[in-house]
Amino acid sequence: MKAVLLAGGIGSRLYPLTLSVSKQLLPVYDKPMVYYPLSVLIMSGIREILIISTREDIGSYKRLLGDGGRYGIKLEYKVQEHPKGLADAFILGEDFIGENPVCLILGDNIFYGMDFSEKLDLVVKRTTLENKATIFGYTVNNPQRYGVIELDSDGYGISLEEKPINPRSNEAVVGLYFYPNSVIEVAKTITPSERGELEITSVNDYYLNTGELVVEKLGPGFTWLDTGTPESLLEAGQFIETIEKRQGVKVGCLEELAFQKGYISKNRMLDQAAEMKDTSYGEYLIRKYS
Ligand code: G1P
Repeated sequence: MKAVLLAGGIGSRLYPLTLSVSKQLLPVYDKPMVYYPLSVLIMSGIREILIISTREDIGSYKRLLGDGGRYGIKLEYKVQEHPKGLADAFILGEDFIGENPVCLILGDNIFYGMDFSEKLDLVVKRTTLENKATIFGYTVNNPQRYGVIELDSDGYGISLEEKPINPRSNEAVVGLYFYPNSVIEVAKTITPSERGELEITSVNDYYLNTGELVVEKLGPGFTWLDTGTPESLLEAGQFIETIEKRQGVKVGCLEELAFQKGYISKNRMLDQAAEMKDTSYGEYLIRKYS
């Protein structure tokens, strides 16, 4: 399986923060925002990832993450000239995706919770073996902000809507999606929404209608955070700070996850940590693993 990480957009709801800096590079406590979704992909065992961003910002991502060798993964980059919507990722990524199933993750989504890694393993296997698409639902109190899925009493999807004014449920669709290879053709057939974008919700609706959509619930013990406004960005940073200080862990620590997955050696991880030894990030790895 391959993955596409979307780090484009203009981040207008965060102006003036994002007037000259790409939103997904803004700090969430002690790391750039993009580390968190990238850590989810490393956790999923996906090692070939395409990062899509704007012409102005793509160079910053290359400087930050390089070819991915530091984390034992392979990163490629692609410019999205115009913000045409999330589903454009599959059209832009067609050559990169090739004949593989693909995961799409949004560069501004943060996930944290128990057993997530096991859940991801299952979804990766199912997507590869059964040719089904999987999305994740999470109960929120402001569903108007998101894609919304209505579920029946058995947890099967009934309807999907993008940012509805009167949502049929409180179940938001999070920014992490798994698709069979057919998604490339599906993305080419959907029509732009009223706001002129190829909506990911239209892609999901296609799979819902063909009976090929699985909806996984992320339960109340799980945390999914949005970083779209100054308040939610600050709250996300405070959440990460609280978890890291209280539990002595690091969330989204790419080197640690790459080492745990067996992608890089302990020595390599510690050498890289030494470059950041004056920070809590580097110090954490050195203290825990030397
Ligand atoms: C996008 C999707 C929406 C999804 C959300 C998750 O919205 O269009 O369906 O629920 O991401 O973060 P955006 O936040 O890009 O407006």
